[in-house]
Amino acid sequence: LTRGSWPLCSPSTGKVEVPYSARFHLHQPGRHPDGIRSVGGLQMDQDFNHLPVMAAEVIALFGTVPRGWAIDATVGGAGHSLRLLQAHSHLSVLGLDRDPSAVAAARERLASHGARAQVLAARFDSLAEAALTVDGPVVGVLFDLGVSSPQLDVADRGFSYRHDGPLDMRMDPGSDLTAYDVVNGYSPANLARLFRDNGETRWAGRMADAIVRGRPVRGTQQLAELVASAVPAAVRRRGNPASRAFQAIRIEVNAELEVLERALDQLPGLLAPGGRVVVLAYHSGEDRIVKGRFLSWSGGTCTCPPGLPCACDAPRLGRIMNKGARKPSAAEVETNPRAASARLRAFEMSGGTTE
Ligand SMILES: C[S@@+](CC[C@H](N)C(=O)[O-])C[C@H]1O[C@@H](n2cnc3c(N)ncnc32)[C@H](O)[C@@H]1O
Repeated sequence: LTRGSWPLCSPSTGKVEVPYSARFHLHQPGRHPDGIRSVGGLQMDQDFNHLPVMAAEVIALFGTVPRGWAIDATVGGAGHSLRLLQAHSHLSVLGLDRDPSAVAAARERLASHGARAQVLAARFDSLAEAALTVDGPVVGVLFDLGVSSPQLDVADRGFSYRHDGPLDMRMDPGSDLTAYDVVNGYSPANLARLFRDNGETRWAGRMADAIVRGRPVRGTQQLAELVASAVPAAVRRRGNPASRAFQAIRIEVNAELEVLERALDQLPGLLAPGGRVVVLAYHSGEDRIVKGRFLSWSGGTCTCPPGLPCACDAPRLGRIMNKGARKPSAAEVETNPRAASARLRAFEMSGGTTE
């Protein structure tokens, strides 16, 4: 592929993608022009029903990057992408998502921006390849990790312990591994490892044993009950233990940590001077990976004695934009409780005009 050429294959589905051609999207009467409506006291975006997290902070971070393309690697319902296009006339947006329903929603929401908005069905570890389909420098990459509200809310997707549904949890319904395979096929030791590493629970072994005893596990409700039965009542009263188990299984089914590592490794070769990476992580495993990459790119892994020129070849690609991770405001969490665990980190490549 060369820049500006098509098509692009989704790595997981093998489906050939065609470029998005702009269609005029009529504003529906009774809706906020930005697509936001109020449902049951919660603010939601129309169609895809996902409210973008830390949107003001994300949009501000891309304000000073050079003219070019921002890749929204997790476009979802295009909440961030739409705001980027509206706020920054020097930016075009290439949105990626591995979930075809998100791709359809994003295409519709970005339609009125014409050629400034492109959306592809792709997993974000094919980010460098996807960037070949647009003409111009890549000046920003945004990752808003994890799942979207509609993915969680549609019972048939199997992501949520709150609704009974099939054991699926695939973001890309064309991919092979399902939650059913993990829950019914993994050894007790492997299940326990998942719950410990990705679910960060001290009840990992007990949860794994309860699941294995309950096999075959056929649906999300049965899984949630088995997990809950494995922990003491006092722990259950502090919050549903299934949330950690479900998170752990979802991360495994979608290989989320491995895919993130592969995607981040493509960025130094992709971003233009002065370009920025912004990551919203919702899980400590993801956040650790991001923090580690940013530290290493900034020269933070240099082992040379202080005051002497660096002789260890540690990369010095740019700067970490804030000390520690930024969190959403209390007001945002109150409006959108799903923002609560968000941690924002940003990195700027050297050579920009803001240095
Ligand atoms: C939190 S939502 C993003 C919401 C979006 N920022 C918005 O404002 O509407 C995360 C999205 O990323 C997608 N996703 C997660 N991992 C992905 C990956 N490795 N490659 C592509 N898309 C991914 C999910 O399917 C989901 O639609």
